[in-house]
Amino acid sequence: MQNSEVFILAIESSCDDTAAAVLHNDKVLSNVVANQLIHAQYGGVVPELASRAHQQNIVPVIDAALRKANISKEQLSAIAFTQGPGLMGSLLVGSSFAKSMALALEIPLVSVNHMHAHILAHFIDEEGFEKPSFPFLALTISGGHTQIVQVNDFFDMTIIGETTDDAVGEAFDKSAKILGLPYPGGPLVDKHAQLGNPKTFAFTKPKVPGLNFSFSGLKTAILYFVQKKKLDNPDFIAENINDICASIQYTIVEILMDKLKLAVKETGINQIAIGGGVSANSGIRKAIKDAEQKYGWKTFVPKFEYTTDNAAMIGIVGYQKFLSKQFETAAVVSKARIQF
Ligand code: KG4
Ligand code: ZN
Repeated sequence: MQNSEVFILAIESSCDDTAAAVLHNDKVLSNVVANQLIHAQYGGVVPELASRAHQQNIVPVIDAALRKANISKEQLSAIAFTQGPGLMGSLLVGSSFAKSMALALEIPLVSVNHMHAHILAHFIDEEGFEKPSFPFLALTISGGHTQIVQVNDFFDMTIIGETTDDAVGEAFDKSAKILGLPYPGGPLVDKHAQLGNPKTFAFTKPKVPGLNFSFSGLKTAILYFVQKKKLDNPDFIAENINDICASIQYTIVEILMDKLKLAVKETGINQIAIGGGVSANSGIRKAIKDAEQKYGWKTFVPKFEYTTDNAAMIGIVGYQKFLSKQFETAAVVSKARIQF
């Protein structure tokens, strides 16, 4: 099969977004995401509700992706789906659908590691976006993960640093919750932070050896800080929300940048690509771009729609695996935790 004829349908359902995309080689023809608003009222993702919502969304989302791409099912070369990591009930909805569809159409089935996809999203062919060359360092920051990965090739990657407790997205979301902001609070902290002074309040950065991270101490520090301030002034949060958010965001960005600087020093690699939902954060985006001038790094920030959970990133890994004929049978199992 000629590369120019590859059409991949990709399905992502690892957490609380039901997503489908169609790729023509490494170009995205459609990228559809249905967010599940139901979780906001519970302050976090409820696994049972997530899998039920995936079941309701999956057919319309796939249908929309195919229609938007102007592709018929019969033109598809393969179906790619997220095998893990993620919530088991959510993963199963996507994998069952992918398996049935691949069997019915008699086309190959490709399984994708969600964390590889956040990294390899940089290889989507997109006007105005350069692709990194190997080797590079990837900072994967999301609601479930915080990793620094040395990427030597498409499927040759090693985690060189990761969180020992909360993920950075959780640090944003839990801080937001303490401040009374609705879930998911990360984007709201970012919004307020852009209007505040990051030097107003100082939060201690954790001392974690090597390239690993820890965010649970920061969350506790913020909780105690807010409780103490509210004793003197019950309106403390409302009156200082922008400065509090700016100070929290500044601290989190510093923690990430300190570890990246150490990783560059230890590996000698100064090409840095960021991925995962938190890479939408304005503070980290600015710090990464500033590092080009400050430290001479070459940095890669993906297009916004490929940073949070999406199926286009699953599709680009699917495309690479299709080229190297890494196919699965319907016996392949979903995995809540998956070997990197
Ligand atoms: O990658 P993603 O969509 O899903 C996971 O795989 O976790 O990441 C979601 C996370 C949430 O914690 C959300 O609050 C955070 O990314 N997030 C942000 C921003 N946009 C999304 N955190 C800080 N600033 C943002 N602008
Ligand atoms: Zn993700």
